[in-house]
Amino acid sequence: MAELREVQITEEKPLLPGQTPEVAKTHSVETPYGSVTFTVYGTPKPKRPAILTYHDVGLNYKSCFQPLFQFADMQEIIQNFVRVHVDAPGMEEGAPVFPLGYQYPSLDQLADMIPCILQYLNFSTIIGIGVGAGAYVLSRYALTGLTSSISEMILGHLFSQEELSGNSELIQKYRNIIAHAPNLDNIELYWNSYNNRRDLNFVRGGDTTLKCPVMLVVGDQAPHEDAVVECNSKLDPTQTSFLKMADSGGQPQLTQPGKLTEAFKYFLQGMGYMASSCMTRLSRSRTASLTSAASIDGNRSRSRTLSQSSESGTLSSGPPGHTMEVSC
Ligand code: BEZ
Repeated sequence: MAELREVQITEEKPLLPGQTPEVAKTHSVETPYGSVTFTVYGTPKPKRPAILTYHDVGLNYKSCFQPLFQFADMQEIIQNFVRVHVDAPGMEEGAPVFPLGYQYPSLDQLADMIPCILQYLNFSTIIGIGVGAGAYVLSRYALTGLTSSISEMILGHLFSQEELSGNSELIQKYRNIIAHAPNLDNIELYWNSYNNRRDLNFVRGGDTTLKCPVMLVVGDQAPHEDAVVECNSKLDPTQTSFLKMADSGGQPQLTQPGKLTEAFKYFLQGMGYMASSCMTRLSRSRTASLTSAASIDGNRSRSRTLSQSSESGTLSSGPPGHTMEVSC
């Protein structure tokens, strides 16, 4: 994705009363399969996907989509979205004829170009509109695992859609780390193994469950929150502390290291590994009853679900009456 050309044009679309003309910007990006041109209409709308179109054979984005996108009733829909209209290579207006013997990209390769476009625009989600061959290209793209960029799929595993579309500094940092990782091929192998994992088949009360003390933590806005809640339901409640962390997405260790540290201290203390003198002043004063419930030999007779309120920073634990304040 080295080279980039941008042309700014103002569309000669008939305006509705009170409407200002929308600026269309045409870009070209280099991809592993050659350059691709696309035209962006409108501005990105926070927390909304982009509409991305792909035209049929014999057409380009304008001859394929202009009548639809300029249809009067369509305006109230499209004004809520930024639109990305892709021209298949060599189909853009004014495109030179490819040299004799030029190997045109396969439809799969055309699909593989889409992540390059999205990465360049920093868009993570799209609503695709494809016609004929364009519908095939978009369907190929949507068959995640085959054509979606590995880095975007991994980001979707690590963070919730809300976090990704919020595009905070943290998300930008991790998107950059993963997309430009020199060992991305190795990461892909780890990713493939993860996707081929076997079910752990935990059964609460059965032979196949964890017998050791477990602290299970999930952000209240994590992408796989349900799976962690289900996992908790299959663990031994007398051995398990479950913490649903407020104001936290997919990676609590990144977004809430303070709260996680505090919870980890309680967990270690429950196993007799932390003297209460190591606990923070606030925690010590508020948790005497809870911490005394776990003896030095790790005898654990309680079941605990910890849920954190975002405002007070408190941890409330079951059985009722045990409240831990988090000093972070
Ligand atoms: C649009 O507004 O998205 C649009 C305008 C002209 C042609 C195609 C699409």
